[in-house]
Amino acid sequence: MGENAVSMELIREAFLYQNRFAGKTVVFKIDFPVTESAGFSYLMKDIALLIKTGIKVIIVPGSAEYISRVLTDHNITSSFADSERITANGAMPYVEMAAFHAATRFITALSASRVDALIGNFVRARGRGVVHGQDFGQTGVVDKIYVESVRRVIDAGMTPILPCIGWSPAGKPYNVSSNGITVAACEALGAIKLVIVTTDWTEKQLNIAAPASVERDEKGKMLRVTPEEVREILKTNAAPALGKTKSHLILSLAALEAGVERVHIVDGTEEGVILRELFSNLGAGTMINSGEYDAIRPIRNSDIPDMLRLMEPLMQTGILLRRNAEDIQQKKDDFAVFVVDGAIHACAALHNWGEGQAEIAALASDPMYKSMGAGRRLVRYFIEKAVKSGCDRVFALTTSTQDWFEQLGFNETTVESLPRRKREIYDRKRNSRIYALEL
Ligand SMILES: CC(C)(COP(=O)(O)OP(=O)(O)OC[C@H]1O[C@@H](n2cnc3c(N)ncnc32)[C@H](O)[C@@H]1OP(=O)(O)O)[C@@H](O)C(=O)NCCC(=O)NCCS
Repeated sequence: MGENAVSMELIREAFLYQNRFAGKTVVFKIDFPVTESAGFSYLMKDIALLIKTGIKVIIVPGSAEYISRVLTDHNITSSFADSERITANGAMPYVEMAAFHAATRFITALSASRVDALIGNFVRARGRGVVHGQDFGQTGVVDKIYVESVRRVIDAGMTPILPCIGWSPAGKPYNVSSNGITVAACEALGAIKLVIVTTDWTEKQLNIAAPASVERDEKGKMLRVTPEEVREILKTNAAPALGKTKSHLILSLAALEAGVERVHIVDGTEEGVILRELFSNLGAGTMINSGEYDAIRPIRNSDIPDMLRLMEPLMQTGILLRRNAEDIQQKKDDFAVFVVDGAIHACAALHNWGEGQAEIAALASDPMYKSMGAGRRLVRYFIEKAVKSGCDRVFALTTSTQDWFEQLGFNETTVESLPRRKREIYDRKRNSRIYALEL
């Protein structure tokens, strides 16, 4: 596929996603070190773009590290219990100062894109109190998010920023965890997505043992993880190996339980990471999703134009036999597509020729998504289908994919071994090789 075709494909995908996300709420939890990185202004420009295209964005600054830094600068020792800061009364003014200062970093960056933003008192909190004899001082827990207030701000065209401070009904400030605010905001506002923006995301995962089913890229970054796999990772890795990843993963699980469809964890210092992760199926970070993300399914009439788009270049070069929309429609039940997040990335058909033999045909995989297992999974799907319908052999005719079929266990065979009806129409001029798998 030429470069031009690749960018057209990306533009199509972007429109598709934009359409799906417009009017929906997406919560961004952005860690403190990201705000200090050189790429922060670019990241915020991309977030501003999302806001301008009609996505309702809520920003929760993760300021724990910044608060620690400010407290240290003022000779105040931070102590923690159950990974939570104990906020001594004397420390609270500094915590407030640090939390609000961290939040202003976002106001500043959004100003550059002329996005109106508001740091607000949107969180009601109550004191954590004394737990197992440990007095948590002015550390609080989130009681509720003032949903109506947040909505009013969004409806007025502004982006709400929720610093890690909450107030009691009497107006007493508490230091609450930004993760707690994130989960409460996701739930209260019905967010469809949570995006956790951090630094060194790939490096953080390198020493982490994950189940074999977790797909990683060539650098070792986990691409897609299910909640079950996250639980397994949390169970099998000791806390020191997990480091900060532990809190990202726990937050992800909590957000999924709170109802978001997907959590994305990205490295905020990588250019364009938000747009690539949200607007392209290829992604740029790690996605944790509760529902089905990719699947093989029978085709619908509305799939046919997309299938023809996949097949066209292969038909032009003679790799696939020419078929038109009617041909596909006539054998509709034979076809299946491999779909990623609603978009078709591969297709194929299984034609039953009788005599216990079925043919895998019209196999076409999107070159932009090659080597991601789509072809293999379709073949496996059809093998299963052939077994279920009582076949004892599947075969494929190919001019250039013999090695690929061999890798899947197929062996070269002869025209004579094909069922009679297929033998009769075998195009000797085309001289395809025949590969078969005994079931
Ligand atoms: C063959 C095809 C379906 C593979 O699709 P895919 O989604 O990339 O498949 P998978 O991810 O399951 O397999 C990819 C692997 O096969 C290898 N591969 C792809 N085409 C190959 C070929 N023609 N010969 C040998 N190996 C091939 C890739 O290098 C890759 O190897 P890797 O996993 O070690 O990186 C796709 O390349 C295609 O559409 N080809 C043209 C159509 C065609 O020939 N159809 C068969 C006739 S019915």
